[in-house]
Amino acid sequence: MKTRQKLITLLMTAVVAVVFILGSAASAQQAKAKPWPVPDKDKAIKAAVKMNDAGVISTGKESWAKNCKSCHGAKGMGDGPKAASLKTHPGDFAGAAFQGQTDGEIYFKTCKGRDEMPAYEKKIADVNERWALVAYMRTFKK
Ligand code: HEC
Repeated sequence: MKTRQKLITLLMTAVVAVVFILGSAASAQQAKAKPWPVPDKDKAIKAAVKMNDAGVISTGKESWAKNCKSCHGAKGMGDGPKAASLKTHPGDFAGAAFQGQTDGEIYFKTCKGRDEMPAYEKKIADVNERWALVAYMRTFKK
């Protein structure tokens, strides 16, 4: 009888440990974004603003702080205060994979959104402000 009780206690401890380990592994997991194909015609769209204009970049910076920083972080590293609670990592905007995209691709993704990434076509109604954001995101390049 005594050995049986010991065995049950041991088994229950093991079950609790396994549940705990699996649980913490699941919460620590944040998926890397899946490929996000952009139609060729949208890739080729040219900016409606001057990309290296100081005024444009400062408009973009202001809008970034208001709309994007909470998830993407001040420098686009995907480390804003909301980032940790997202299922998908918002990405590293300084790296070659992001900066290698055309202006049109970055603009398209900003406008259309996907899953946790909001669509800004209507939220930011001013076309020039959306393009200013693209210009600002170019300043993250290392
Ligand atoms: C609620 C959090 C959140 C906010 C706010 C947010 N984003 Fe995102 N963003 C994400 C996530 C998550 C992804 C990755 C989505 C995916 O690939 O499915 C993403 C992806 C992107 C991408 C594509 C990245 C790539 O690697 O090609 C761009 C561009 C982008 N965001 C721009 C912006 C801009 C500009 C703003 C502000 C106007 C903004 N985001 C606001 C969460 C957010």
